[in-house]
Amino acid sequence: MNTLSGKHILLGVSGGIAAYKSADLVRRLREQGAEVRVVMTAAAREFITPLTLQALSGQPVHSDLLDPRAEAAMGHIELARWADALLVAPATADFMARLVQGRADDLLAAVCLACEVPLAVAPAMNRAMWQQSATRDNLANLRARRVHVLGPDTGSQACGETGPGRMLEPGDLVRLLCGMFQEGALAGRRVLVTAGPTREPIDPVRYISNRSSGKMGYAVARAAAEAGARVTLVSGPVALALPERVNGIQVETAEQMYAAVMGHIADTDIFIAAAAVADYRPRDTAGQKIKKSAADMTLALEPNPDILAAVTALPEPPFTLGFAAETGALETNARHKLRAKSLDMIAANLVGPGQGFEVDDNALQVFWDGGSQQFGLTRKTHLARQLVALLAQRYQARYNKDTVVKLHAQDSA
Ligand code: PMT
Repeated sequence: MNTLSGKHILLGVSGGIAAYKSADLVRRLREQGAEVRVVMTAAAREFITPLTLQALSGQPVHSDLLDPRAEAAMGHIELARWADALLVAPATADFMARLVQGRADDLLAAVCLACEVPLAVAPAMNRAMWQQSATRDNLANLRARRVHVLGPDTGSQACGETGPGRMLEPGDLVRLLCGMFQEGALAGRRVLVTAGPTREPIDPVRYISNRSSGKMGYAVARAAAEAGARVTLVSGPVALALPERVNGIQVETAEQMYAAVMGHIADTDIFIAAAAVADYRPRDTAGQKIKKSAADMTLALEPNPDILAAVTALPEPPFTLGFAAETGALETNARHKLRAKSLDMIAANLVGPGQGFEVDDNALQVFWDGGSQQFGLTRKTHLARQLVALLAQRYQARYNKDTVVKLHAQDSA
């Protein structure tokens, strides 16, 4: 399987002679299974035509920040949200300086500023420009902001000189980009995720359920797999494709979800409960379709097992991240669930018409004993990556603490 399979790569092209290599780069990214969109600066269009990059990417090329048609279709915010990673290749000395300043006066700079996903630059410039202290300072600044700097290479340059500043070859850039996705904060960890709704049958044609689409849980499973974890996803009925590198188990009822989770929990380091499990099920399920009658009807319900609470009650529970779906008093209710279910962390979201359930965007407030972090409204795919990064930090903090406690216990034994 290709590491870039299904990934959305936004390629920024700034105005240097190495822009001719961007055509090959687009081709190679697509060979790796990536979907590629291209944003060009005005200067880049002097070196290579948008038509070439459009033909190779199979998508319109974007250039104008203030084009009203472009803004209506895919403006800088939409492009930034679409991307799983942004690579600027070539990145000229001028473009890097503008990145440092946080400029947003052309489309590519504005997209970079709006981007919440990994940003990489492939510098390309004359060797003297590369060695200038101004460029070195800019580079240090970008690195400190966790911008990935890919290259440059050393060798003969278009200006006739020889030295550092050549853009890396497209094949090398693609390999380094793949590595960015493989670097895993959860490398080697076994993660079990629940997602989607459950369905509790009333009779052969009717059931009780809720509005969960599974989008949040599937995004979390995908982000955990991207972070290097071995992921099993126990999912209620949803209309979503299983993410790459994720082992899927399909269930329908809460009891089936409980059985699937308990069957895998012994092999789990981290349990993430994003499913909206029905709290109750009909006490009796009719074998035949219940006939309509004029009389009122009462449905007797009985409680379903609380899967998350059952996991944390185990003698050696994994690290647990629960979700809290609330319609108000978010922090109070979430912190109550954190304590009542003995969780390590809880991610709370407001739900209701147009938020939390079903839609593509969400916002989360994450709480743990002694701390909290807020993640603003963004796509569930981005949010899941932010959440998984935080989870990895909290998991590591507990893991280190447990190790210190065990070592102390051994010392005093
Ligand atoms: O699927 P989407 O459309 O993308 O929507 C995402 C979401 C809103 C469903 C998701 O972000 C979310 O909040 N999931 C948890 C919903 C929920 O059931 O919350 P709760 O507050 O009722 O439950 C608290 C926690 O206990 C949850 O982790 C839940 O998975 C777990 N639980 C609840 C009941 C039960 N019987 N077993 C459980 O494991």
